[in-house]
Amino acid sequence: MANLVRAKISALGTYVPPRLLTNEDLEKMVETNSQWIMERTGIKQRHIVDKGVGTSHLATEAAKKALAERGMSGSEIEAIFLGTVTPDMSFPATACLVQNNLGAKGAWGYDISAACSGFVYALQTGVKFVESGAHKRVLVIGADVMSSIIDYTDRATCVIFGDGAGAVIVEPATDENYFMDFVHEVDGSGGCFLNMPGGGSLHPASHETVDKKMHFVHQDGQQVFKYAVRKMAEASERVLERNGFKGTDVDLFVPHQANKRIIMSAADRLGMKEDKIIINIDMFGNTTAGTIPLALDSARQQGRLKKGDLVLIASVGAGFTVGAALLRWAC
Ligand SMILES: CC(C)(COP(=O)(O)OP(=O)(O)OC[C@H]1O[C@@H](n2cnc3c(N)ncnc32)[C@H](O)[C@@H]1OP(=O)(O)O)[C@@H](O)C(=O)NCCC(=O)NCCS
Repeated sequence: MANLVRAKISALGTYVPPRLLTNEDLEKMVETNSQWIMERTGIKQRHIVDKGVGTSHLATEAAKKALAERGMSGSEIEAIFLGTVTPDMSFPATACLVQNNLGAKGAWGYDISAACSGFVYALQTGVKFVESGAHKRVLVIGADVMSSIIDYTDRATCVIFGDGAGAVIVEPATDENYFMDFVHEVDGSGGCFLNMPGGGSLHPASHETVDKKMHFVHQDGQQVFKYAVRKMAEASERVLERNGFKGTDVDLFVPHQANKRIIMSAADRLGMKEDKIIINIDMFGNTTAGTIPLALDSARQQGRLKKGDLVLIASVGAGFTVGAALLRWAC
């Protein structure tokens, strides 16, 4: 049998902009209160960019940290896959801007639009390019500036989202600690429940689209909530079962950070105890494609992520998009 190449994460870096937007700040902007936000979402604060800062900046800073951790320069990277729904502009791809910022002269790459599943989708792509033998050093990034598409007069959405980015380097595995499996699903019938309708080819930017607030996030929170709880658990069960594991075998569950209640309900269905779950939504809010690397980094800083740990990642996002990954942590 041919020698099977497996892939691992060899380094991790994250970045959030310094400016904080707290629940108390939001109390002054819309009719809400800090306690409601905490109880219904688990969020205390989010980081927000200053004017003139785009997703490529956050992505570049996160990538630089991952490269520094690995002792690698940008020129050693062969490909960049970047999950985002808030690219600096429609084109060129933010991956191209990051490639230039990093001096990654030998790298190609592209953006992946899968909303809150963007990082998991980009990760699957990076892992497959390594497993196929096509590449040996791939940069996978999840980055979003959600504040650029949020209506800060809409209390139902403006309390949830924040800005942030994370990057990992994916390389061939050298031991038993590698990606075992991924599952992905798309359910396009859910597109109506969470979207930003303006600015695309269907509704190009015009005075009318601006007046109708079509360049902001629109969501049916309860529909998204129900779908997220069900699918986060189902995708996790599927990836665990087909690799011979149960929820109780997992050392660390790293869910997309959309709402603390979504995470706890999904974890409950999987039979997971709270000490196995990483939750940092209180600090960052929902940073869309940034949440999972930010959560991995929080786990590491808290000393809760060790080499060899069985890690389960799960996400649900607009689309709907669903993703789960099972791996043994390698760095
Ligand atoms: C958005 C979300 C937090 C709303 O929480 P909820 O418990 O479902 O709240 P509801 O929408 O049922 O609203 C309950 C009440 O709170 C009010 N409310 C909504 N936002 C509020 C806010 N920021 N502050 C205070 N009250 C608020 C509503 O107007 C409603 O009032 P009413 O009963 O007088 O009509 C929740 O639905 C959610 O998290 N959904 C998933 C969203 C998500 O994760 N999106 C990203 C997906 S990856």
